[in-house]
Amino acid sequence: MRIDIITVLPELIKSPFEHSIIKRAIDKGIVEVYFHNLRDYSKNKYKQIDDTQFGGGSGMVMMIEPIDKCISKLKSEQNYDEIVYMTPDAPTLNQAMANQLSLLKNIIILAGHYKGVDQRVRDLFITKEISIGDYVLSGGELGAAVLCDSIIRLIPGVLNDETSALSDSFQDNLLAPPVYTRPSDYKGHKVPDILLSGNFAKIDEWRSQKAMERTQLIRPDLLED
Ligand code: ADE
Repeated sequence: MRIDIITVLPELIKSPFEHSIIKRAIDKGIVEVYFHNLRDYSKNKYKQIDDTQFGGGSGMVMMIEPIDKCISKLKSEQNYDEIVYMTPDAPTLNQAMANQLSLLKNIIILAGHYKGVDQRVRDLFITKEISIGDYVLSGGELGAAVLCDSIIRLIPGVLNDETSALSDSFQDNLLAPPVYTRPSDYKGHKVPDILLSGNFAKIDEWRSQKAMERTQLIRPDLLED
């Protein structure tokens, strides 16, 4: 998979790609990630990429031209399956979306800033809009990093234990059951006996039951679909 991230703050977003599972996926060549500094596409000598909004109002708006130039250049070099815009006024990211996106070959992610982008960018270039939650961040970079992490870990070969992505919370619309490790007794706080029993059928049953209980308690909305 190839991911191209368009941003005004490339340095802000690079770090999550330089560690752990995501770094390993890049090192193994399973995913390629490229960062594009939008200011490099400004024709303005001050590298300006935003301007005041028509009709008045506070906050700057990202201009269409640098974004058009950057996306057009990328599209002239390869085809893209989706061009994603990170913004709070969009459907919220969930595991189903991450699963779908992880199947794609090439995507562009545009990180918004300030008051957002000129609406014509959304109308003309963007094929998918994603929010990472009902709160406003200073920019789309952290959202783009979250989105990439959620996608990349699902690509076959990225996780060592392939089944571990399948048993994540949300994969079956349920939260994950509790997990324990050594010691089995910590200051009198004991691990449930069933997990030490060696009876794997019963352990599976216990985990399913706990997953259901947790979901009912914490996220009953997940059970509504
Ligand atoms: N940019 C600002 N807030 C955001 C959010 N909640 N999700 C995605 N991008 C954003």
